[in-house]
Amino acid sequence: MTPAAVITIDGPSGTGKGTVAHLLAQELGWHILDSGALYRIVGVAALDQAVAVDNSDGLVRIANAMEVDFSTVFPGSILLDGKEISGRVRLEESGVMASRVATNPALRTALLQRQYSFRRPPGLVADGRDMGTVVFQDALCKFYLTASAEIRAQRRYNQLKDKEVGVSLPGLLRDIQERDERDSTRVVSPLKPAKDALIVDTGPLTIEQVMAVIRQVIRRHGA
Ligand code: DC
Repeated sequence: MTPAAVITIDGPSGTGKGTVAHLLAQELGWHILDSGALYRIVGVAALDQAVAVDNSDGLVRIANAMEVDFSTVFPGSILLDGKEISGRVRLEESGVMASRVATNPALRTALLQRQYSFRRPPGLVADGRDMGTVVFQDALCKFYLTASAEIRAQRRYNQLKDKEVGVSLPGLLRDIQERDERDSTRVVSPLKPAKDALIVDTGPLTIEQVMAVIRQVIRRHGA
């Protein structure tokens, strides 16, 4: 049996990839994998359980034991061991923790099977850093969204300023630059476009314009 089709959307944070992935999955009626959320959940659990970011065994134990439920009834809701944690998972500090635990090769391997399990008919839209390069190398179409760090920091600031106390534009820009550096220089599965990915600079585009580009390409591939 041929495995279900996958569309991968990779790139650094703040490029609009999460929004685009959700809109696309909705339009196609496909499943969605927010792989960044898995790393964020491990990061949050590591903080709670006082597991150090360089403790491979501890991180793998968390990854293997965690029961995660991305509710389809309440979009955006994430249950960890039955508890709603989506608010905490989306905090900037959880993104930073995620990026730190994500450098661990054993943890990345431990999360692979869980990511594969999202691939079910009629198809999957997979959002992350290494979806096209590592996890779903045989994807039907691959996209890599980019934008300058300054534009991404401004977008994050607009999203977070009313939700998180103490966010500042210079602070976000610094976090983004550090996270880009860590994500793209790590030894395993570094952030980079797959050779066969279409690179889309979302800097000058609205979400609707990005969607238009993506629709055009996936239609050509028969999705
Ligand atoms: O997409 P995001 O901001 O939720 O991701 C948070 C961090 O998780 C990101 O900085 C690096 C890591 N990550 C990863 O290493 N591989 C993925 N496929 C997704 C996220």
